[in-house]
Amino acid sequence: MRTNQKGAPHSSVHTMINFDAYKILLDTPTSCDKYPAKQHARNVARRLGASRGLIFLSGEPTINLRDSDQSQPFRQRRYFYYLSGVDEPDCSLTYDIEQDLLTLYVPDFDLHRAIWMGPTISLEDAQDRYDVDRVQYHASLKHELQVWLDKREQSSELYLLHKSERPETLPKDLPVDLNTLAPAMNAARGIKDEYEIRMIRKANEVSGLAHRKILESIRSFSNESQIEGSFLNTCISHGARNQAYNIIAASGPNAAVLHYGRNNETLHKKPLVCLDAGAEWNCYASDVTRTFPLAGEWPSEYVRDIYKLVERMQEETIRRIGKGVRYRALHDLAHDIAIEGLLALGVLKGASHEVRESGASKVFFPHGLGHHVGLEVHDVAEGEIMAFGGGVTRPNWACGYLSPCTLLAPLLEEGMVVTVEPGLYFSPLALDNARKQPYAKYIDFDVAEKYVHIGGVRIEDDILVTATGYENLTTAPKGDKMLAVIRGSA
Ligand code: GLY
Ligand code: MN
Repeated sequence: MRTNQKGAPHSSVHTMINFDAYKILLDTPTSCDKYPAKQHARNVARRLGASRGLIFLSGEPTINLRDSDQSQPFRQRRYFYYLSGVDEPDCSLTYDIEQDLLTLYVPDFDLHRAIWMGPTISLEDAQDRYDVDRVQYHASLKHELQVWLDKREQSSELYLLHKSERPETLPKDLPVDLNTLAPAMNAARGIKDEYEIRMIRKANEVSGLAHRKILESIRSFSNESQIEGSFLNTCISHGARNQAYNIIAASGPNAAVLHYGRNNETLHKKPLVCLDAGAEWNCYASDVTRTFPLAGEWPSEYVRDIYKLVERMQEETIRRIGKGVRYRALHDLAHDIAIEGLLALGVLKGASHEVRESGASKVFFPHGLGHHVGLEVHDVAEGEIMAFGGGVTRPNWACGYLSPCTLLAPLLEEGMVVTVEPGLYFSPLALDNARKQPYAKYIDFDVAEKYVHIGGVRIEDDILVTATGYENLTTAPKGDKMLAVIRGSA
């Protein structure tokens, strides 16, 4: 617990009845406000199923840009943050499972670095700030690992995420487990606790403000770059210095590029903007997409019809979220709704079950319905690493994270946070490729071409699975409210 050192010296009478001190204590943060690193360590040990052993994790080091004396922007390693709550470079940690002892190692004091960059954290400050049992300087790590080694029982292993992290000082025959720590940490990270939910909620609050500000300003903007600039301005001004991912400010046909990033084209004559942007709060992500017209009214039936269809895909899937639900079923439902809607618009043709089996709808909805959100925007969770979003062009493309859209993904559980982000896109590249595929007969390319100028529509919210259903954590306006904000009537 931190104490306020700034109070006036107390007289002896004051010392006996020191109301000021009580006030200070009530105002200061309690240990409950610390990032719950110790609880996370215990959860991971439980999921490892181990009663002894040592987890060793290094944080992200300071790294210079190639051929430069400037450092790369620092981004803490998420597995390390999960067990420490420390967002500083050059730290590491151990967790002795048997002793239930979490030790943080901070950088040794370096006078040169302190003069140029400011001092690194002291032992006292680190002990005060973080939920760890002990804090030591990096210099003691080698010796402490040796002490653990000397005392350890035969069955006690060293748990690492990667072979390359094996401390050089340890003997070669030491049993090292490289396989079970990552799945245990992924499973633990997939279920968010109250503290983590608070961070994701706060990240969403800031993103909501930033999205709203753009809706309020869009009529005066003439280029995508102003959207990006405004988003960053609001986030940073509200204390969210980092984005959870690169901002996608895609107008018109650019919206067909799922991860468009140039953000520098004119808005002139564009029917809509697809803005996918989310702030980060204390390393926790938000992931929010809104698609909107520039003047607060849908410029044509084409645009409105696609927006309404995506809106229905999102509403119908969000309202079914709850514990015990198979997320993959919602992904399939979103496809069914898309197929029904695109058949009605004449973009698709044929019997709906044949269209579904052919995979033709993936030309227009090529990514998963969503993903977990947490320390990563595409967060980890329990399960196997599977292909996600490969769609029709790269069916085996594995993005390296654990998608809830796969058939093998565990059912939704209370405490999971997932995005629901259906989209429909009219990519000339995807359409050209589709012409050569067996499912081409289910697509009316003449009709589809009429939508190419739209680019695409995506709507994305972050949804918490609760004990009784779900809670939408995303506060950015959408639908009619969003249009009203653009028009200045909300
Ligand atoms: N918001 C970016 C993505 O989910 O891929
Ligand atoms: Mn997303």
